[in-house]
Amino acid sequence: MTEKGIFFAGPDHHAVEGLLSAAGLPVEDIHLCSMDHFIGYRTPSGTLSGVAGLQLFGTVGLVRSLAVASTLRQQGIGQQLLKQIEQHAVAQGVRQLYLLTTTAKPFFLRHGYQEADRAQAPLPIGQTPEFSGLCPATASFMHKSL
Ligand SMILES: CC(C)(COP(=O)(O)OP(=O)(O)OC[C@H]1O[C@@H](n2cnc3c(N)ncnc32)[C@H](O)[C@@H]1OP(=O)(O)O)[C@@H](O)C(=O)NCCC(=O)NCCS
Repeated sequence: MTEKGIFFAGPDHHAVEGLLSAAGLPVEDIHLCSMDHFIGYRTPSGTLSGVAGLQLFGTVGLVRSLAVASTLRQQGIGQQLLKQIEQHAVAQGVRQLYLLTTTAKPFFLRHGYQEADRAQAPLPIGQTPEFSGLCPATASFMHKSL
């Protein structure tokens, strides 16, 4: 499946919102995000079926909005999206990556992230809408050094 689809930068805002909504992820602040730092996965029929995003704060980044359409999960698309967004982060000079997740903690643990203390979050991460309100306080806060 993945060999037939295409990974690409700069997916359409509205398509991203639709995919994230279907996956139960926050969309309220998507309009504030530059799609230049989002990677999409498109099926041969042209449907946006996967996405991963990055918010940049100098050498610190927030991975967000990682989602794969439910019918295409468990095929490696999610891990490829994560790998590509991490490579993009490195290219942008990011050294420390953070994320919040309510449902995918085991997935991120398997990809080198460790649970972190929210109180120790770098200031710009703590000020993001995702951190300060859109994700529940029970969400796991995770970190990876690149
Ligand atoms: C988290 C999420 C993005 C993972 O996407 P995915 O495409 O299913 O991820 P992958 O297929 O790469 O990996 C999932 C599992 O499939 C397995 N897998 C990978 N390639 C495979 C293949 N070719 N065949 C069978 N299984 C495969 C992986 O080993 C992995 O197993 P694990 O979870 O036991 O480690 C997806 O579940 C999702 O959209 N969840 C809802 C949104 C969410 O919670 N996002 C995270 C917060 S930002």
